[in-house]
Amino acid sequence: MSESLATVSYIGATILFILSLGGLSNPETSRRGNLFGMVGMTIAVLATIFGPRVTLAGVPWIVGAMLVGGSVGLIAAKKVQMTQMPELVALMHSLVGLAACLVGFASYIDTSIVFAGAEKAIHELEIYVGIYIGAVTFSGSLIAFGKLSGKIGGKPMLLPGRHVINGIAALAVIFFGYYLLQAHSPQEGATALIVMTVIGLLFGIHMVMAIGGADMPVVVSMLNSYSGWAAAATGFMLSNDLLIVVGALVGSSGAILSYIMCRAMNRNFISVIAGGFGTGDSAKPAAGGAAAPAGEVNPITAQETAELLKESKKVIIVPGYGMAVAQAQHTVYEITQLLRGKGVNVRFGIHPVAGRMPGHMNVLLAEAKVPYDIVMEMDELNDDFPDTDVSIVIGANDIVNPAAEDDPTSPIAGMPVLQVWKAKSSIVMKRSMASGYAGVDNPLFYKDNNRMLFGDAKKMLDEVLTALKT
Ligand code: TAP
Repeated sequence: MSESLATVSYIGATILFILSLGGLSNPETSRRGNLFGMVGMTIAVLATIFGPRVTLAGVPWIVGAMLVGGSVGLIAAKKVQMTQMPELVALMHSLVGLAACLVGFASYIDTSIVFAGAEKAIHELEIYVGIYIGAVTFSGSLIAFGKLSGKIGGKPMLLPGRHVINGIAALAVIFFGYYLLQAHSPQEGATALIVMTVIGLLFGIHMVMAIGGADMPVVVSMLNSYSGWAAAATGFMLSNDLLIVVGALVGSSGAILSYIMCRAMNRNFISVIAGGFGTGDSAKPAAGGAAAPAGEVNPITAQETAELLKESKKVIIVPGYGMAVAQAQHTVYEITQLLRGKGVNVRFGIHPVAGRMPGHMNVLLAEAKVPYDIVMEMDELNDDFPDTDVSIVIGANDIVNPAAEDDPTSPIAGMPVLQVWKAKSSIVMKRSMASGYAGVDNPLFYKDNNRMLFGDAKKMLDEVLTALKT
């Protein structure tokens, strides 16, 4: 393939990636968005393999690597549960970071192209920055994987003088960058690169370890952004325009998502990165742990829930992580259909950080074929709760916690929540009194107009459905 055809293919792939991102911003166009992305990636891979920069001798290596990588990806994607997606995504981000590091070192020791003067300095700077971003992304994403999968506790690890440690690390990185540019031999330069890589790896670990469980949504999207910048840096090292553009697209969209997440949680991005959120005295231990009882709760049966629903005119359903665990979305849809058939106005309230990944609930509801027009964002229906007969909380906890509004000492104070307690009655469906991801007790459970439907969400909803039908 000629140079110009490869360039045209790259431009085509870039346009498809932009269309893909545009499509993914709306549930109705997301399938098409995915398709654009897949076609764009196929064009990009083919144009690279058959492009002018790959020799025939290199093709078997590339095909071999693609077979191994593709098989691992296929098996992982087939085996992984929907609830484990965030962990898988974190692992994938770590691989992008690792690739940036490896490409950086390979570029540095590659003697096939000799740079001199300013070009040499720019090339070395690209390598230096690329490896640094790659190292931070690699180790940070591995720690995020550990935290999301529960292998590492959700509590922030706060070293004494951590900001000073970070400051010294930043100065050391700048110093070794200068040292690399002044190096008299490749060995001297390699030493600077290795020292900086170790600092980058330690910084990535330290940064994510210091971030509390409740801030993990921001970390996931932030690492997504880092992986984009790592890919862009790799593009600079390899002089590959497509990688630069695609990396910048991922980097900037991840940054925008981080900003949206921060706004959804009423958090300041800098303070999220500085870490320590959720360490106040009122913070309860480890995510998922049982919270101390703080009053009496009123249980309800599935039969009574069905009766209450039958008498309602307006119902708002708030799904959370537990719905994903129970895979209850199909039963939720059946109940919705049945109630709508009886003339009940049923809508869904989606919190921006419900579940464990951006858009988690939207994906599940779309899979169950819930119509998009009754799936609303938090801001769209928070004012409607006082006018609602029943709000049903299915496996959600933190996102409906009134303490976020009422208790300034709560670790989630200031986070906007769905005000389900303002409905005439609210029903919370969960298995026990355990706390949610942030590990905070939930005063909603003890409110006079709230009832608790204890049990696995799928099982209880099946019972409600049967009771509704009879
Ligand atoms: P959580 O606050 O984590 O609460 C989920 C609740 O579901 C738990 O209290 C659990 O109680 C219940 N549950 C679990 N399995 C269940 C089952 N099979 N049947 C019924 N209930 C079940 O979830 P949320 O309200 O969706 O809030 C999300 C939290 O995750 C926020 O703190 C957010 O910051 C964090 N987070 C979000 C993301 C993104 S990007 N969305 C990423 C990382 C972290 P039981 O054990 O008593 O059943």
